[in-house]
Formats: sequence, C-alpha cells, structure tokens
Amino acid sequence: MKIFIDTADTDELRAAFDTGLVDGCTTNPSLIAKSGKDFKEVIAEICGMTDGPVSAEVASTEADMMIKEGKRLAEIADNVVVKLPLTWDGLKACRALTADGIDTNVTLCFTATQAWLAAKAGATYISPFIGRLDDLGQQGMELIGEIRALYDAQDYDTQILAASIRGPLHVKEAALLGADVATIPPKVFNALLSHPLTDKGLDAFVKDWAGTGQSIL
Ligand code: E4P
Repeated sequence: MKIFIDTADTDELRAAFDTGLVDGCTTNPSLIAKSGKDFKEVIAEICGMTDGPVSAEVASTEADMMIKEGKRLAEIADNVVVKLPLTWDGLKACRALTADGIDTNVTLCFTATQAWLAAKAGATYISPFIGRLDDLGQQGMELIGEIRALYDAQDYDTQILAASIRGPLHVKEAALLGADVATIPPKVFNALLSHPLTDKGLDAFVKDWAGTGQSIL
C-alpha cells in the first residue's frame, strides 16, 4: 500500500518525504485554507518535493468550470492529480479530464455505488472517507472492503485511496483490506512508528553498549 500525506503544510510534508517512505500527497480546500498559502503556489511547491502524485482539488461545482480549473491545475506540474467531488458534475469532469490524459481523484466517497460510478467515469483514484463515516457511528472501514470486492469483481483498475484516516488502526485495516493507497495526516504518519517499548528498549541497548567500552568501527 502506498502512503500519501494528507496536508498542505510544506514543513510537515518535507519531513515526511525525508523518510523516503512517502509516495505522494493529497490536499483539499480546507487544508489549503489552513495553510494560509496561495493554492497554486503551494501545489507547485509540493510538486517540487516529489515526483509522486499530488492531489489538488477544483473549487467549482459545475462541470464545465471544473474541467477548466482541472486543466489549469494540471498545467502546474506533470504529477498533479485533479481532485473532483463525487457529484454528477464531478463525474462529468472526471470523464472529460481522463479523456485528456489527466489523472483524477474522485473525493467525498461514502458508498460503494458512488465508487463504482467513479470507476466507470475513469477515475485514477477513488477516495472513500473512513473517519467521517465512523463519526456518524458507521463502520467506515467496511466501505474499503466493499469497494475492493466490487472493483475486483468488475475488473476496474481505479486505485482505492483510503482517506479521512484518524489513527494507525485505520492505516493497518486499510492495508489488510487491500486499499492501494492510504492518505495519512502527518501526526498519524508519525504515530505509525512510535512505540514506548521501542524507545525504552533502545535506551537500554545504548546504555548497555556504552558500558562495554567497545566500538564496532
Ligand atoms: C482526502 O483526500 C481528504 O483530504 C481527507 O482525508 C479528509 O479527511 P478529514 O475527514 O480528516 O477532513
């Protein structure tokens, strides 16, 4: 499963890319607003950090305008993926941009039938929002399993991009269910590694090794 980082914070993103384990980035209008930066500038800056896919979301809700915005966003860099909402207009724009060879990420997916329609429209990625379903008392992760089964049964190659991830458990379950990508907030990405017993164990090894007075080199 590929790892994307779900942020427009370029400092946090740079630190994540420095690990060598991150494959791309997703943003959305809320994350752009939170960054306080110019949208097109920050997308260009992120695309300069990676050759991997960088999702940039259209602002319009009407197909013709989405297509225009999508084409403009795709001009920023070769690795821009145009993010479109899961509406009839969004799917129309998805078909048009896909026909033009532009990669797309259809977002705000909450049902398997929505995901099916996005695949039929030629989406490169589908973004099911796990955490927001959990917030409503549903099992968000079940949606990942359903979409995986549907895409496999119908032979679609649209990639399942597990989104709205709230913690390491979501990441683990998405991987076990066969998601192609998880887009992870920086805080959760860091939490994937940290464990108090790892820290405690390493402290003891370092201390005991120092006590031997030896050197490997
Ligand atoms: C996905 O691309 C979205 O940016 C994101 O995962 C939404 O997550 P949220 O529900 O935490 O806002």
